[in-house]
Amino acid sequence: MFPLLVKKGGAHMSLSKDSLENIEEVDSTVSFVLNGEVMTLNVDPSKRLIEIIRDDLNLTGTKISCEIGRCGACMVLINGKPQNSCLTMAYQCEGKSVVTIEGLSKEKLDPVQQILLEEGGLQCGYCTSGMVVSVKGILKQCPNASFEDLREGLSGNLCRCTGYGGILRSLERISKECTVKKQE
Ligand code: FES
Ligand code: FES
Repeated sequence: MFPLLVKKGGAHMSLSKDSLENIEEVDSTVSFVLNGEVMTLNVDPSKRLIEIIRDDLNLTGTKISCEIGRCGACMVLINGKPQNSCLTMAYQCEGKSVVTIEGLSKEKLDPVQQILLEEGGLQCGYCTSGMVVSVKGILKQCPNASFEDLREGLSGNLCRCTGYGGILRSLERISKECTVKKQE
């Protein structure tokens, strides 16, 4: 029997599909920090983070495409790390910090976005939010990321338009202009 994980009283527990009729008994409140704001939401325990972000909160900068963790269009930062929101259940965000593309560029474009724009690193733009979020996550974890680090870190982000030339040019510039150079 395929188990479903749901959270109740701070602990995870398994439910079989036969138990789904009792789902209303499960505590479905989730609290997390989204783009710097504390949120407490009542969520269906079967909902994924991508659905909450896009459908319930109308933050449509995060895109959805493959829905199976292959394309990176749905990338968000969870506790600073890039994660596919199509593979993340909403309840798994309890007590965590979630940042979407909207949280990265509140007043003006983030420097990573600006460089992608200047270097022609996007065409239709559908993959771009995920790329920017992934790059920001890599830079958070590795402030001195090299071009190779960035290229490898973006291996889970697919673009169907650009042929990658503009994206690679952008990564070259990001590795020079958005990293913290080590003081020797
Ligand atoms: S929509 Fe999530 S990885 Fe493709
Ligand atoms: S710019 Fe269109 S999918 Fe990447």
